[in-house]
Amino acid sequence: MSTSSTSTPQFEEFLSSLPKEEGIFEPNSYQYQGFWYPRISLQGLISCQQHFQARKNDIFLVTAPKSGTTWLKAILYALINRDVHHPQDPHHPLRNTTPHQLVPFLESLDLSDYDSVSNTSDNSSTRIFGCHISTVSLPKSIMEEGRIIYLCRDIKDTFISLFLFSNKANFRTSPISLESAFNLFCRGLSPAGPIWDQILEYWQISLERPHQVLFMRYEEMTVEPLVQLRRLANFLGKPFSQEEENSGLLDQIRKLCSFDSMSKLEVNKTGNSIGELSNSSFFRSGVVGDWKNYLTAEMASKLDQITEEKFSSLGISMT
Ligand code: A3P
Repeated sequence: MSTSSTSTPQFEEFLSSLPKEEGIFEPNSYQYQGFWYPRISLQGLISCQQHFQARKNDIFLVTAPKSGTTWLKAILYALINRDVHHPQDPHHPLRNTTPHQLVPFLESLDLSDYDSVSNTSDNSSTRIFGCHISTVSLPKSIMEEGRIIYLCRDIKDTFISLFLFSNKANFRTSPISLESAFNLFCRGLSPAGPIWDQILEYWQISLERPHQVLFMRYEEMTVEPLVQLRRLANFLGKPFSQEEENSGLLDQIRKLCSFDSMSKLEVNKTGNSIGELSNSSFFRSGVVGDWKNYLTAEMASKLDQITEEKFSSLGISMT
């Protein structure tokens, strides 16, 4: 989840002009350009729409919150910087800095921060950012210059992860019940939602522009991590050499970024790196299918039904 804290009277006035509903993560959710955002993300989104200028080859990881952003940020960082930071280096930046510090959210940055982001080892001044922004709201320069990796996750797992994370973050005046969160989620009122619409637009654009947009899934990363690492490296123009393949480098990157390893690091167990959100709250269970421990059969089938209705005609399957 991305956050930005300072506000201005102009922003408050703008906010009051937007459709508003109850939110899952914050008390309110605001509809902007067809998608719903909590105020703390919206502020950063507007700022980056106005001021952010993408550079050729910048890399943008786009997700719906709780789809595995933290994981893929770590992987992207490890992969892009492997020439200077070997995954087995005991001082690798990922061992003492959080993935969100290394790969910031566009919506969390202030205007003055954009140019100071320097998180890749090559000389092209490429930068890596995360964001939860729909294609319609992405700054134009990103659509023109950037390379986009879109990561999605099973909708039921994403929902449960969001529900538990929201109550842990405690940004609402009172915790939200599973039933209320579920109803809002189904109505599309999740942060950066409707989640189905976000997934669909990136799916479509990945088909139209396969060299610019790579569509990835959390579950595929768990089932065939090395295949997905190769896919990612090829897409980014940094394919693994035979020597790297033979040396076991891919598996070393996988291990460094695994839930087991990342969630045990002191830096990820303590402190905050995005506003008041604790670093540990980004590492819960990292399990596929955990929704079964929370959703009733009716809830699960309702989410499946919405997913089926939205996706089936477009040939995208979430199973
Ligand atoms: P769960 O709540 O299901 O455990 P995001 O990074 O987009 O906020 O998503 C958080 C989800 O990704 C959480 O899911 C979290 O546990 C999981 N996650 C974080 N790091 C991970 C890793 N290295 N490998 C797999 N899953 C990870």
